[in-house]
Amino acid sequence: MINEKILLSIETSCDETAAAVVGESYKVYSSVVASQIAIHAKWGGVVPGIACKQHVTAINGVVSEALNTAGISQKEIEAVAVTAGPGLPGCLAVGISAAKAFALGWEKPLVAVNHLEGHIFSAELDGAKIEFPAVYLLVSGGHCMLIYAAERGKYKLLGTTRDDSVGEAYDKVARELGFQYPGGPVIDRLAAVGKETYSFPRPIIKDGYDFSFSGLKSAVRRQIEKGDIVKEDIAASFVAACMEVLTVKLKKAVKEYGPKSAIIVGGVSKSPVLRALLSDGSLGKTEVVFPSLKYSTDNAAMIGAAGWWRFTNNGASSETVGIMPRLSLSRS
Ligand code: KG4
Ligand code: ZN
Repeated sequence: MINEKILLSIETSCDETAAAVVGESYKVYSSVVASQIAIHAKWGGVVPGIACKQHVTAINGVVSEALNTAGISQKEIEAVAVTAGPGLPGCLAVGISAAKAFALGWEKPLVAVNHLEGHIFSAELDGAKIEFPAVYLLVSGGHCMLIYAAERGKYKLLGTTRDDSVGEAYDKVARELGFQYPGGPVIDRLAAVGKETYSFPRPIIKDGYDFSFSGLKSAVRRQIEKGDIVKEDIAASFVAACMEVLTVKLKKAVKEYGPKSAIIVGGVSKSPVLRALLSDGSLGKTEVVFPSLKYSTDNAAMIGAAGWWRFTNNGASSETVGIMPRLSLSRS
């Protein structure tokens, strides 16, 4: 029995076709994710044309499953929220077209959502409470950002990556080691049994809040090309370098801004090393918050929570809203 208002949310910005039913309290009644990982694995990364076609094939089934799992019909929803950007243009177009069709056909308001704001709200699903001001570390395949929020929904970008995101570096290092996309899970498995025997650089670690991972990635590649390597130790040494950069910068932001919460979101927030490094009490009174593992990587439940926030504060989006492949956070 659902005793609150609910919305349907849709996410298709990259390689996951996802739909969810989320309550006004950010409680998740269903979250369905049809992953295309197995399809893209052999290509070493997401192939946009293939991803787009897969979204077209999967979207109706995923939405039906989300409604059925929540045990509701379309009549009971208040709105349809959808990722409008950033992301792959063709992939975003499938989600936004489907959401518009459902919203128009069911006579419900449409809410366009920023995917980055979705990740930000992933830490508040299913009753988790966040206190503001907050500092966010958003670490995914597409982004690496430090963000300050004086209050919920008001963002100041402190730093971003000058080249690769940390997830991208994971994926490229995994490929150099002979593993398939995505690199995160396999690198973490290897690192867990490896030792930090290689000395890799910690790029621009002391230099403001921006990040850079391409120099580290190249240093790892040069080491692999020398041959005679222990893959587990390469992974452990690479992870140690990435996580030291991330934690040093996050701690610096916490020291400067004194937030009540430090929130780590995005695919790389699954990293057990990152979770362990930030759970050692070194952030003092600032509470460290991670989303539950199932909401770290792309999903539609996080789009539902951000959708509720935008719908409540800004109202519905125009029926003519289009995809915004390069949407940034400040425009959310
Ligand atoms: O947030 P996400 O699902 O998609 C984007 O919005 O980009 O993040 C995907 C990224 C991939 O680069 C993947 O290698 C990385 O997150 N990732 C991980 C882990 N699982 C996925 N990185 C580190 N540790 C993991 N366990
Ligand atoms: Zn994402």
